[in-house]
Amino acid sequence: MAAIPASDRGRRFVVLIGAPGAGKGTQSARLAEALGLCKLSTGDLLREAVRAGTPLGRAAEERMRQGLLVEDDVILGLVREHLRTPGCAGGAVLDGFPRTLAQAEGLDELLAEVGQSVERVVSIEVDEEEIVRRLSGRRICERCGRVRESAEIVAPPEPPSPQVAALPADGVAAAEVCPSCGGPLVQRADDRPETVRRRLEVFREQTAPLLAWYAQKSLLGRVDGGGDVARIHALVRRELT
Ligand code: AP5
Repeated sequence: MAAIPASDRGRRFVVLIGAPGAGKGTQSARLAEALGLCKLSTGDLLREAVRAGTPLGRAAEERMRQGLLVEDDVILGLVREHLRTPGCAGGAVLDGFPRTLAQAEGLDELLAEVGQSVERVVSIEVDEEEIVRRLSGRRICERCGRVRESAEIVAPPEPPSPQVAALPADGVAAAEVCPSCGGPLVQRADDRPETVRRRLEVFREQTAPLLAWYAQKSLLGRVDGGGDVARIHALVRRELT
């Protein structure tokens, strides 16, 4: 068997799994920072590709808009490429990946190539009513990129800034502006209620079966994803010890 390159020894790979809106992105950012790992979010990578208008982004856009999963081979290609970047030299917190059994098997193969394996899978669990509330209130600032909750959204200055006045009809409420920079707030295309319902169905059908699969490998921990973000972070950390 080939020797494991020294640079690959001791890399950590932690998976955060959960329904849309469960808090994977929020918790993976904190966890990656605390552990000195990269945060690898397939959703973020796909949105970047859509924004950049790459062939991959153009192919993925419609499925994302409909709340459907993007094809496994596309996702595995993206992950393989990203795991090789210097930022992921110490390992990664995987956010929103894997989402199907084929992806989980693909991940095991990718890691086995470098003598690594998944260390732990943490399921963040939140009830669906809370998820719909979170996602319907989420807005993103087009100018500074920050995520805002409905409670933080403030009325626009008078008269409205040209950017706000120029918001397209489906860019959501022209009256919503970022409390930090005054930029226009928009809703993610897949945060509309009917698409959130579809994403939840897709999670139940295609991703939830991974919980039993990882439990059978004794890799699964479960945390209650409701309430204070710092408390959830502590629960996730406890699952890794
Ligand atoms: P992706 O971007 O991964 O979306 P998602 O899983 O649906 O996740 P979200 O980003 O909506 O939620 P989250 O769990 O990360 O929660 P967050 O921290 O953001 O994927 C989008 C699409 O890309 C997919 O539908 C699919 O099409 C495609 N895709 C991605 N990965 C794929 C893959 N592996 N295979 C195939 N297709 C793939 O929080 C949500 C909101 O709640 C935020 O507003 C946040 O501020 C708030 N919040 C977080 N924690 C709390 C808390 N404790 N209390 C109150 N509010 C909170």
